[in-house]
Amino acid sequence: MILIFQTGDPARMEHRSTSRENKSVSLPAAPSSHSIALSQQRVFEARGLKKIYHTGELDVVALQGVNLDFHAGELVVLLGASGSGKSTLLNILGGLDVPTEGGLRYKGWDLTDGTERTLTLFRRNCVGFVFQFYNLIPSLTARENVALITEIAPDPMRPEEALDLVGLSHRLDHFPSQLSGGEQQRVAIARAIAKKPEVLLCDEPTGALDITTGITVLEAVEQINRELGTLTLIITHNAAMAEMADRVLYLKDGQIVRERTNETRLPASKLEW
Ligand SMILES: Nc1ncnc2c1ncn2[C@@H]1O[C@H](COP(=O)(O)OP(=O)(O)O)[C@@H](O)[C@H]1O
Ligand SMILES: [Mg+2]
Repeated sequence: MILIFQTGDPARMEHRSTSRENKSVSLPAAPSSHSIALSQQRVFEARGLKKIYHTGELDVVALQGVNLDFHAGELVVLLGASGSGKSTLLNILGGLDVPTEGGLRYKGWDLTDGTERTLTLFRRNCVGFVFQFYNLIPSLTARENVALITEIAPDPMRPEEALDLVGLSHRLDHFPSQLSGGEQQRVAIARAIAKKPEVLLCDEPTGALDITTGITVLEAVEQINRELGTLTLIITHNAAMAEMADRVLYLKDGQIVRERTNETRLPASKLEW
């Protein structure tokens, strides 16, 4: 069961079962061309998104009119050089920041209505974040780090289940200092998805990792997307990751300059960079 917000009224939340609820976490892998089976349910609708940072005398235009739609269950890679506006866009999609201009709707619900309550409910119930740095609490075990979130979420999975999904059943009682970088990032992913968010937003999730470890992290993200049907956005400057996506968006100077749909997704385990 997940939380669904009624269109136009973020305060009214309903528990409603969805098809995702019926999917067992041990489903066999979907065919790599599973994009044909993707639901076309629109989750995000962004129109004319602009973001201008006012810093002292200078105005920095980070986004200059971005139009985007994201659909349920998609895995989208957003590629762009450093400074192209990737994090700004992801932060706005995740309700951590607001655009200077333009509109953003989540399932028809207006995220730019100017109320902090809307964004708070949205962040709390609908979005999981993964950042380059794992932000785990050093004095808590893997299980306890995940439990911090599951204790406050309305309908979470158990911490053990979330850690199992990222391949860490054998590390439940390890502290972050006893885990490798890739394992720590997988704990962070388990923490992000334990509340069963509709959307998983990853900002350079492999940025601090070597290739082999980075791939294990991407495999975990891929598995979440496939088994839970979570709309997943990965932002990166690493073009090799484009192959694992259903759709690739290219960001340059705050604008989407190109879009590509992959017929088939390359498993993360086959990526090379
Ligand atoms: N809080 C901020 N204040 C001022 N400028 C910012 C801020 N955040 C980002 N920027 C600027 O906006 C542009 C886009 O940044 P960002 O979205 O972080 O790009 P990316 O994630 O692609 O590296 C850059 O020029 C950056 O310096
Ligand atoms: Mg960034």
